[in-house]
Amino acid sequence: MDQKLIKEASNFIQEKLSVKPTLGLILGSGLGVLGEEIENPTKISYKDIPHFPESTVSGHKGQLVIGTLEGKQVIAMQGRFHYYEGYTMQQVTFPVRVMKELGIDSIIVTNAAGGINETFEPGNLMVIADHINNMGSNPLIGPNDDQLGARFPDMSKVYDREYIELAVNSAKELGLEIQQGVYVGNTGPVYETPAEVRMLRTLGGDAVGMSTVPEVIVAGHAGIRVLGISCISNMAAGILDQPLTHQEVIETTEQVREDFLRFVKKIIANIPN
Ligand code: 6GU
Repeated sequence: MDQKLIKEASNFIQEKLSVKPTLGLILGSGLGVLGEEIENPTKISYKDIPHFPESTVSGHKGQLVIGTLEGKQVIAMQGRFHYYEGYTMQQVTFPVRVMKELGIDSIIVTNAAGGINETFEPGNLMVIADHINNMGSNPLIGPNDDQLGARFPDMSKVYDREYIELAVNSAKELGLEIQQGVYVGNTGPVYETPAEVRMLRTLGGDAVGMSTVPEVIVAGHAGIRVLGISCISNMAAGILDQPLTHQEVIETTEQVREDFLRFVKKIIANIPN
């Protein structure tokens, strides 16, 4: 990953800001509404930022929103880049490098995911305790820039333990029932077959999606503290006798929107400065 490109993108963004963001937010399918709650927002379209790819999937906006949320200086991605869109792993994770360069030390990564764990229900929110990289690739493949992170980064606590506890306590404060589990990152764009879902359950997965893992790996490499939240938008294939549609994913995330907003805002309020 070329530091010159990271710096050019981050300088372009920084020139438009008066305060330094400390918390990054990646908002997944249908979850971009959180960006609308940011006060005194500076909005920057991805297409205007040097070296940023453009997002193509519907339900994603494709802009950065930078401002204040729950008293914290945040930088939110409304829409992300997916491996299945044809971007390289480096392109998918480029914004994480740029946000790090801008000054973030923590990130909340969100997504819509299919439930593998049969005790889950559509509309549940799941704090990500750990992940399984099932994408067959890794954004850190290639020469390592030691200034960005270690050659062989430890992933044993990439999902910050204190943040998991903080999220669990925040849910309690709100009287919100949440799940905790292992997120499996698949490439997509297909949803899994019923046999694949059984396999992933056997392997220890609780939810499956098409994002998050690359960004979290790079955040871990960069020393950024990570909290991951999945919105279980539907059950994965073979659990309920019904086909999966992107429409359902969007509709369910819209239904849990209020819970999601309350939850993430409470978490942000509870993160120590
Ligand atoms: Cl069931 N699978 C994957 N891979 N991604 C999803 C999903 C399922 N539901 C929402 N996103």
